[in-house]
Amino acid sequence: MSVHNYVRIFDTTLRDGEQSPGATMTSAEKLEVARALSRLGVDAIEAGFPAASPDDLEAVRTIASRVGGQSVEGRPSAEPPVICGLARAAKKDIDAAWEGVRGAKHPRIHTFLATSDLHMQHKLRMSREEVLAKVQETVSYSRSLCEDIEFSPEDAGRSDPQFLYRVLEVAIKAGATTLNIPDTVGYTTPDEFGALIAGIRENVPGAKDVVLSVHCHDDLGLATANTMAGIMAGARQAEVTINGIGERAGNTSLEEVVMTLRTRHAKFGLETAIDSTQLTRLSRLVSTSTGIPVQPNKAIVGANAFAHESGIHQDGMLKHEETYEIMRPETVGLTQTRLVLGKHSGRHAFGVRLAELGYRVDGEPLARLFQRFKGLADRRKQVTDADLEALVSDEAPPEAEFFVLEGLQVACGTMGMPTATVRLRGPDGQTYVHAAVGTGPVDATYKAIDAVVEPSATLLEFSVHAITEGIDALGEVSVRIREGARESAGKVNAQHGVRPWRVFHGHGADTDIIVASAKAYLKAINRMFATDPDQVGRWVPPHEPVTAAQAG
Ligand code: KIV
Ligand code: ZN
Repeated sequence: MSVHNYVRIFDTTLRDGEQSPGATMTSAEKLEVARALSRLGVDAIEAGFPAASPDDLEAVRTIASRVGGQSVEGRPSAEPPVICGLARAAKKDIDAAWEGVRGAKHPRIHTFLATSDLHMQHKLRMSREEVLAKVQETVSYSRSLCEDIEFSPEDAGRSDPQFLYRVLEVAIKAGATTLNIPDTVGYTTPDEFGALIAGIRENVPGAKDVVLSVHCHDDLGLATANTMAGIMAGARQAEVTINGIGERAGNTSLEEVVMTLRTRHAKFGLETAIDSTQLTRLSRLVSTSTGIPVQPNKAIVGANAFAHESGIHQDGMLKHEETYEIMRPETVGLTQTRLVLGKHSGRHAFGVRLAELGYRVDGEPLARLFQRFKGLADRRKQVTDADLEALVSDEAPPEAEFFVLEGLQVACGTMGMPTATVRLRGPDGQTYVHAAVGTGPVDATYKAIDAVVEPSATLLEFSVHAITEGIDALGEVSVRIREGARESAGKVNAQHGVRPWRVFHGHGADTDIIVASAKAYLKAINRMFATDPDQVGRWVPPHEPVTAAQAG
């Protein structure tokens, strides 16, 4: 494959994607997503913004050594992906980015500075000449640390092209190896964005010797169209996120670009190294790790993307699949595979199926999952791969479990007040039992949990969905809570510098929807406590714990 017909896929789910409000992931989740991206075959992973906080730096460092240090098992390529860290155009950011990525086999520093008049005047308060000097200084400083440097002129889509050309020329001379062109606010249209890339190739000395990259936002719903226009104009790296998550309306979605190049290969004649059969799984993994659901009509990975409801379509599909289907569902990893394991099946076969689905689980976690699978298989005729994925993601513990649900009993219906009794293990290792009444069973359960935990948080969102069809389906509950009692200590946003209120999500899966609700809520609470150890120290038990005899 020649470099001219190869499009590098640069995934920024863990950086721009994580900038979506409330998408905060734990370090363990980031590592799992990074591993899955590596297996998917992405060329580069933007692992984070290391200057944001010590935790972010640590997460990038871990990904650099554990995912970027060697080829992950199952990765289509023998080489590990490039691991990239973002840095504003400032020495301390660049040093932090280098600290984060230097353990990777192929490290990259990505530095950026705004070039639109609007950003330069109002955000940076810098003149054009000052911006040119800063680009020269920071790109060459980055290059003194690392061979592989990406430079982005932020808000390129609204920059004066003549000035942009000068900035990019300076960046190339200072040592940039990739020039990434962001449409930061999703303002351009495909013809404009394609012309911008073509203009850069034509007018910037040295542009044909570096990799041109495109980075689009979806504010007008044009991110994928703009990215494709950029590729047609000669860009050979696309910056994307799984499910298109990202700032505001999001970024270009990885699955859309990859499947456009694949499905319309005859038109584009371009390749990527992505194993598209893993797309559906990645989409679910990112959705559960970030708590951001995928809209049902989302292209490629939405629940309805391959569903043919209407009579005319079904008739056509039965006569010939291609009448209404331009891609086979299997090519994106959507299979109807039923797990042919029943309640008499062994743990080995169960582990093998999980491995086939891409999960490496063994020891104690496998034993726990197997127990839950048995329970489910007892209650259901068929257990699907989607059920299994839900069980695995439900088992994945948050970084620390401060409060653990040991038991729950609920009374509800039309004959009395909905009442819930919860049994929780607290951070002190003791068991607390508390009962509460509420407007319904979930409200009562959350009130009982609140009475033990006393979280300073507000419930923002609560949603339930059935993973598979049928009355006996596994139900999945997602919640979001917003920390509420103190000044937000959220990490600083790389671009606008604001520290947003911190939002935490949690999700739980169970055939009992109230149990799933309790688990989801506790996961969100545990996440909140995990980011602020002082909160654990401030926790005061609500009353005496129950004795071992009472706890049974
Ligand atoms: O959208 C944007 O401009 C960015 C840059 C930091 C590349 O995300
Ligand atoms: Zn962006």
